Amino acid sequence: LKDFTISNEPILTYRKDSAERVALKQALETTAATCEEVPIVIGGKEYKTDKVMHQVMPHNHAHKLAKFYYADKKLLEQAIKTAVEAQVKWDRVPLPERLAIWEHAADLMAGKYRQALNAATMLGQAKTVIQAEIDAACELIDFIRIHAFFLKECVKYQPISEDLKVTKNSLRYRGIDGFIAAVSPFNFTAIGGNLAYTPALMGNAVLWKPSDTALLSNWRIFNIMREAGVPDGVVNFVPADGPVFGDTITASPHLAGINFTGSVPTFNRLWKQVGDNLDKYVNFPRLIGECGGKNFHFVHSSADVQSVVTSTLRSAFEYSGQKCSACSRMYVPESLWPDIKSGLLCEVKKLKIDDVQDMSTFTSAVIDDKAFKRITGYIEHAKKSPNLEILAGGTYSDAKGYFIDPTIVQTKDPKDRIMTEEIFGPLITIYVYKDADLYDTMKLVHTSTQFALTGAVFGQDESFINCALEEFKMSAGNFYINDKSTGSVVGQQPFGGGRKSGTNDKAGGPHYILRWTSPQSIKETF
Ligand code: ALA
Repeated sequence: LKDFTISNEPILTYRKDSAERVALKQALETTAATCEEVPIVIGGKEYKTDKVMHQVMPHNHAHKLAKFYYADKKLLEQAIKTAVEAQVKWDRVPLPERLAIWEHAADLMAGKYRQALNAATMLGQAKTVIQAEIDAACELIDFIRIHAFFLKECVKYQPISEDLKVTKNSLRYRGIDGFIAAVSPFNFTAIGGNLAYTPALMGNAVLWKPSDTALLSNWRIFNIMREAGVPDGVVNFVPADGPVFGDTITASPHLAGINFTGSVPTFNRLWKQVGDNLDKYVNFPRLIGECGGKNFHFVHSSADVQSVVTSTLRSAFEYSGQKCSACSRMYVPESLWPDIKSGLLCEVKKLKIDDVQDMSTFTSAVIDDKAFKRITGYIEHAKKSPNLEILAGGTYSDAKGYFIDPTIVQTKDPKDRIMTEEIFGPLITIYVYKDADLYDTMKLVHTSTQFALTGAVFGQDESFINCALEEFKMSAGNFYINDKSTGSVVGQQPFGGGRKSGTNDKAGGPHYILRWTSPQSIKETF
């Protein structure tokens, strides 16, 4: 078995005239030139239904990028049958063979298909070149390569055998009898790859429902994994209407697990449906979910102002605040507010909001009409509320694409719904606290939301940092000291949050893979 290296995939720079920039330009042109037809794939066979859907470019919604089809209940049931049968054979494929497929796939993603993945992510999900590169290239490759590495490490963990002449004890890391449903979001191409393929790596079979708004990039992943050698039926590509998919998978006795990233209400609904069907299942299905956040930056009076300004603009506005980890509320001491305010207002004006194909664009449109309406609803709330003042942005237009300018709001009320509800867009709200109220304000961070995904604190004062480590222990699954709340790296900062942010299974960490095995304990007596 070839040894995997575990270093992260390097980020390419896309400097003018670089080879990657030339290749990307070509991939963008090819991707934009056609409306690609994407079938449903079950057991290697392609299907179309009369429920025709389109993926459009968020920054130019008249442009259709892909045509695809929703699998109906009958096809989903067929996919379940196919997956359940495939699982038995796939789980018998020796681990070195499975690992070799994953390693080959990572190499294809890093080389031959890197720009096809990036182009589909840029055009389909409105990511700028650098945001696509850190997602559809680096994070995706890291998920594939590093989870394979962790699996290889994890199977080394074996029980004690006191005298190998008499008895050998071992653990066989099997997949789970049945199928796993992977339901993935639009905001990271890499998350789709991880949700579908990490369970598969462990010997499971999967029904993958990609997001409608990440269809093309997810289709690219599916094809790369096929080319790398994932057998037909192991992962089945089934775009579908959310409730039809949820109702069908939870009604099947063979549901072995759900690997989900999306909203709290959808995860709640799936969880309840699983509860209602418990008596009929072969297994207790494993429910793994990442569900959202209300991520914070908390600033202490000892903080470095420039670092706060840069980190906050990047966290709140890169990819238009649509990273699950994006900062959406900030707490600033009165003593630093004049400097932080002028820094934010000066820098925010320089951010270029435009088409993703312009390499100097900082961020582009939000994903779709639904997101546009939700986010602008909060902007309108800010315009009307006497407690809220819009300091920057507040302007938007969906004439060509779903564009919303980076918006900075100041609130007098730290419990206003703009400070407590997930917005998932380019809007940050700031509460300025009296320096003397530091500890009460810290308490507010935890008590004012149900979420605990990411959070960051800024300060040079050691006693503040120690206090923050205690106070925010349960307030964030990913916690940063003097850095922005976004940008976790697979293998380095395993990702996930507690409370209503999810089951905190830490994608990209050494234990994630263990959620997808049902090991067998073997005692062999000689
Ligand atoms: N890796 C992504 C981030 O932390 C989720 O922003």
